[in-house]
Amino acid sequence: MRAFLTDLVNDAPDRRLSCAIYRKFIFAVVIGATVGTALETSPGHDEPALAFLKLVDWAAAAVLTFDYVLRVAAFIGHGPSVPPPRAIVRFLLQPLSLFDLLAVAPFYILLVAPAGTEAHVVGELLRFVKLARYSPALQTLTVVIVRERRALEAALFLTGLLLVVSSTAMYLIERDAQPDRFGSIPQAMWWGIVTLTTIGYGDVVPATSVGKVVNGVVALLGLIMFALPASILASGFGDEIHRRRFMVTWSLVAKVPFFAHLGAARIAELASMLRPRAAESGEVVIQVGDQADCMYFIVTGDVEVTFANTRVRLKDGDFFGEMALIVDQPRTATVTARTPCNLLVLTRHGFRRIVDADPGLRAEMERIAEQRKIEHARDAVDA
Ligand code: CMP
Repeated sequence: MRAFLTDLVNDAPDRRLSCAIYRKFIFAVVIGATVGTALETSPGHDEPALAFLKLVDWAAAAVLTFDYVLRVAAFIGHGPSVPPPRAIVRFLLQPLSLFDLLAVAPFYILLVAPAGTEAHVVGELLRFVKLARYSPALQTLTVVIVRERRALEAALFLTGLLLVVSSTAMYLIERDAQPDRFGSIPQAMWWGIVTLTTIGYGDVVPATSVGKVVNGVVALLGLIMFALPASILASGFGDEIHRRRFMVTWSLVAKVPFFAHLGAARIAELASMLRPRAAESGEVVIQVGDQADCMYFIVTGDVEVTFANTRVRLKDGDFFGEMALIVDQPRTATVTARTPCNLLVLTRHGFRRIVDADPGLRAEMERIAEQRKIEHARDAVDA
């Protein structure tokens, strides 16, 4: 229970199955409650259906309240070691805690201060924001928006400028022909927004020839301007995902004792060359006799190396698949995962680069490969 609460506070669902199941349950409750609220708004429900939807609503409120209390308790007991009142304040100040609060507070506020249907619907749909805690994509988007805010602000400024300039021009061109639609700059701005966003409702269109030409140019500029924020966000997303992948690989590389003596710069170089790979229990990672194109480092898990009559166990921190790369020969043994494994894969090209750049690493790898070869020879003699 203690470890569960710690993982819950640290949002580390992958470390504990119970934590992952609990998060999935809360996720399902939020989705269920949101669908229930949406269904409630459609007319024609009979009494039992309405009673059922109310029940779903109350049950969701109870579960989310329990989750909120659990999170506060877990934060006090297992979060930063500060006195409880300060821990509660810290908890409340976290952005994701605010979403947790928004998911439960409207239910109780509307209970004591009954308001119209609209307030109920909005209050209940606010639960959806709780999913921010469970959605890495939403968190990534927030990070990207914050990081790219300067570029986004510049794009927004250019769009605003284009809107003001084009609406003013259209006002001057069209005001006499259509005073009811282009009689003022704010009125012309409605045309500007609809044109620049390429929505084109068609309710306000220029009547003069010059106005039509300007309309065409502004529509084209609108296409270009609206592509700007989209491309900024897309490249920001790509960079962020690349950065996260790099961080994951970095932390895995740092765990392999073979690389422990390397400095941060070399680990960073290695992290860009290594690729994480998971292997299921019982999966054959290397088949004897196959051609080699990579080698592996074990981050977590156990594998079994089989050659002739011998079986050797390798565990986290060990590596395998280097022999065929060192002497350019087929695989000398079969390697099977005995437990679920997290591996790091180093391609033949990466292997060459690493051993060429670090003679110490090369010597150590060759020493271990030599020992393994001796075991093969001994095994052959015994056979
Ligand atoms: P490779 O021949 O490329 O593919 C099979 C791998 O099994 C081999 O490289 C070694 O990394 C590993 N291996 C072979 N023999 C032994 C051994 N005696 N002990 C540990 N690992 C071995």
